[in-house]
Amino acid sequence: MEEKFTAAVVTVSDRSFRGERPDGSGPVVKELLERAGYRVVRLEIVPDEQGEIEALLRSLADREDVALAVTTGGTGFAPRDVTPEATIAVCQRMTPGIPEAMRLASLRVTPRAMLSRAAAGIRGRTLIVNLPGSPKAARENLEAVLPALDHGLEMLRGGPADCAGAGGK
Ligand code: MTE
Repeated sequence: MEEKFTAAVVTVSDRSFRGERPDGSGPVVKELLERAGYRVVRLEIVPDEQGEIEALLRSLADREDVALAVTTGGTGFAPRDVTPEATIAVCQRMTPGIPEAMRLASLRVTPRAMLSRAAAGIRGRTLIVNLPGSPKAARENLEAVLPALDHGLEMLRGGPADCAGAGGK
């Protein structure tokens, strides 16, 4: 399959960062993205520290110019769940339809879907999307939005975007 866009996967987890728990969701997200035609250029693990998450997201957007940066973890209610705050802090324009669609689809799976505070937005030419942390939740949330993302990225990155033909996807 032709690789249209680059992507980075960022696992946000204190325990995975310390090596106390294997990173289950990062590889799941990477595989889903690759199957959808993305070239995954970075797979990172950071602790639940807002400053570190922000710094990595800024670097992925400003220095590496990845088209898509997907985070997994840190979207819940625990005191150290700050991934949405880091995302909001670095984005210039939010894309609320993406987390709305994820929660809509996920509510059919579990009422706990409403507990994800995931955000998504644009920094420069990079789209940043938060996913919840468990491999199952990450997969379900990403699958809900993945079919629409390439059209957004074509618009964002100045490709041949034409909304007229996008209705059926
Ligand atoms: N969404 C889907 N599709 N499937 C799930 O199992 N789990 C929920 C929610 N979203 C879940 C889901 C739960 S239990 C929580 S606490 C939130 O995601 C936040 O997860 P996080 O803290 O790992 O980011």
